[in-house]
Amino acid sequence: MQIVIRPDRNTACATAASLIASQLNTKPASVLGLATGRTMESVYDALVDLHEAGAVGFSAATSFNLDEYLAIAPDDPRSYRSTMDRLLFDRNDIDLARTHVPHGSGPGSGGAAYEALIRDAGGIDLQLLGIGENGHIGFNEPLSSFASRTREVTLAPATRRQNAALFDGDEDAVPKRAITMGIATVLEARRILLVVTGRAKAGILARAVEGPVTAMIGATALHFHPDCLVVADEDAAGNLAEREYYDAMAAGSQEP
Ligand code: F6R
Repeated sequence: MQIVIRPDRNTACATAASLIASQLNTKPASVLGLATGRTMESVYDALVDLHEAGAVGFSAATSFNLDEYLAIAPDDPRSYRSTMDRLLFDRNDIDLARTHVPHGSGPGSGGAAYEALIRDAGGIDLQLLGIGENGHIGFNEPLSSFASRTREVTLAPATRRQNAALFDGDEDAVPKRAITMGIATVLEARRILLVVTGRAKAGILARAVEGPVTAMIGATALHFHPDCLVVADEDAAGNLAEREYYDAMAAGSQEP
């Protein structure tokens, strides 16, 4: 794992966007694993800026989103499918037919079908992740097995509270169930990019990076991935004990 700390949210998200752009520029037909959530809004804005500046194209790319609420129709503006269309897919040249969001009903639904689609696409080249305040990645809530695959899950109360803002602040309106890629699915991506911003994430980021590996914090499974980069802003990095070393590592990796 490597940690890069940027002065503020915008710079951290711009760094993440440039890493995604350079993945696409190196391999235009990349398979991207994508996330939703407030952190990603700034990442996608920065990515759209790069696209509009002619610095990156998505026409040959394929994408797989991490998760989706159950019991919300894809065309509901609060669904992750609608959110992705609005934030990213409708604002670049990606072929919508090659964008995938898991869903729990209808043709091609369910975890096994989603896993087969990922496999058929050749696997995920770069998986983008955010982290929940309870340490989840995707919707892999506490106690999710590190061997878990794409499946339906029950959302933790902390997650429903965290996401209530998108449901007019009404926690009870947040769906109770979701479908998510599993932790083992995520770990199969060739590269992982975790983006963490804001003071509210400082405690969980320190536990995810520096605490013991535990199924209570899904993000600790990222220690089992050989190529995982964490991009954080100063606020989110505020509780990291080994900060000096991470800065030295980041400086060292830029040396010739
Ligand atoms: C969403 C997802 C979640 C979020 C996490 C952080 O697709 O996979 O794991 O990345 O809940 O959400 P924000 O960025 O809203 O704090």
